[in-house]
Amino acid sequence: MILPVTLYGDPILKKRAEEIMPEYPGLTETIRNMWQTMYAASGIGLAAPQVGLPIRIFVVDTMQLAEKRKKTNGIKKVFINPTILEQDGEEWKYEEGCLSIPGIREDVMRPPVIKVHYFDDAFNEFTEEYDEINARVIQHEYDHIEGILFTDKLKPLKRKLLLPRLNKIARGEVDIDYRVKVYKK
Ligand code: CO
Repeated sequence: MILPVTLYGDPILKKRAEEIMPEYPGLTETIRNMWQTMYAASGIGLAAPQVGLPIRIFVVDTMQLAEKRKKTNGIKKVFINPTILEQDGEEWKYEEGCLSIPGIREDVMRPPVIKVHYFDDAFNEFTEEYDEINARVIQHEYDHIEGILFTDKLKPLKRKLLLPRLNKIARGEVDIDYRVKVYKK
């Protein structure tokens, strides 16, 4: 089932999400819905808070993007209860976007290499290293479950300049072709 994507302005996007147990009810369906929702919105990553769930899950599919960049192999993975253990290397700039912040793309600095501990959908445990675009997307999605948006990482002046557009998004004034949910105070 395709779920509406939570828009900027919803407090769930600013909250640290909670770890889940393997018995989490409807886990398989939740993950399936997240994939469907991400693809329906042409995204390359999606975190559970973006579909209104305050839990530590995100999905990432960098296959097409990595193929185009030719710098690393893409991944298609679900990350449950992840922890970024290490970040390494000199930060690099990449223009990021976010399904919860449609229409805004800005350069964000992030380290190029990470080591991440996580569980897959069968609760198998992994510790893996990622670099390049994979590390980029994983860090963006990881920020989501920590309650951080890419706009939070911009310089204060840049953020201030974006504020009118962000406020429009918070009011639901967006021109996009996927379903969204506007937060009502
Ligand atoms: Co995002």
